[in-house]
Amino acid sequence: MRLRVLGTAAGGGVPQWNCACEGCGSARRSRGLPRRHASIAVETAPGAWFLVNAAPDVTEQIEAFPELRPGPGARRTPVAGVVLTDAELDHTLGLFRLREAARLRVLAPPAVLAAVTEGLSADAVLGPYAGITWDALPAGETVRLGDIEVAALPVSDKRPRYAAGLAHPGPWSTALEITDVRSGRRAVYSPCVADWSDPLQAALDRADVVFLDGTFWDDDEPRRAGFTTKTATEMGHLPITRTSARLARLTAPVRLYTHLNNTNPLVDPAAPQHRVLADLGLAVAAEGDVIEP
Ligand code: MLT
Ligand code: MN
Ligand code: ZN
Repeated sequence: MRLRVLGTAAGGGVPQWNCACEGCGSARRSRGLPRRHASIAVETAPGAWFLVNAAPDVTEQIEAFPELRPGPGARRTPVAGVVLTDAELDHTLGLFRLREAARLRVLAPPAVLAAVTEGLSADAVLGPYAGITWDALPAGETVRLGDIEVAALPVSDKRPRYAAGLAHPGPWSTALEITDVRSGRRAVYSPCVADWSDPLQAALDRADVVFLDGTFWDDDEPRRAGFTTKTATEMGHLPITRTSARLARLTAPVRLYTHLNNTNPLVDPAAPQHRVLADLGLAVAAEGDVIEP
């Protein structure tokens, strides 16, 4: 199995267009790294890839990775589909940027599909443009995509603000377990962890590669930054200071944080917090890396 890290930032990216915080400023001065929105691509068969979430910068992410570029043939794309872990805007707005798709399969947990179709009207808006198939991926069920199996693991009922009024039962937020059926190797992609659920723990215990929610370094960070009165936990993201010990206890050889908010000190490559992670055997996922568990 091959996984490509397409982006590592939380909503807004780094730098965020209307933000002059330290992390965004340092990324603008190109001391820090500009970061695209969190996403990975999974090779499901030779020359076929599924994206995990559709970030607002999805087409730039595709161009940045030669194996996702089109050809041979005028309109042949290796991008076969998208699997959504949740319906947050930073994970779904990219669907609209894929409107030229002749054929694209979108899989998502039922509540997420409902949010995207009823909340964002994505099927109605994209219908006249794109050949999209919308498939439910119920939590706990496994779907085969070429040489890969994917399963949505229930994590929490954190839902996007625009979907507050929808009546669908959850789970609203899932992690994706990705299994190579030939090698048995497994990866877990989990960018939004409001609760460390039992199904998530079970999958993490058997994983070879783990991507975990690294939105905030500590619980008070969003309040300190001044853009909210909520803590990280109240915003639906367990902070790294509360998850790093658990992540370090896993036997997976590759354990990475992703979905970094621009307030997270880790957006600066020189921040001492990187050493704290390294001492635990952890790191921040690097955009452009191809991981082969
Ligand atoms: C989140 O990760 O909590 C959301 O992307 C937040 C947001 O949409 O602003
Ligand atoms: Mn997000
Ligand atoms: Zn910022």
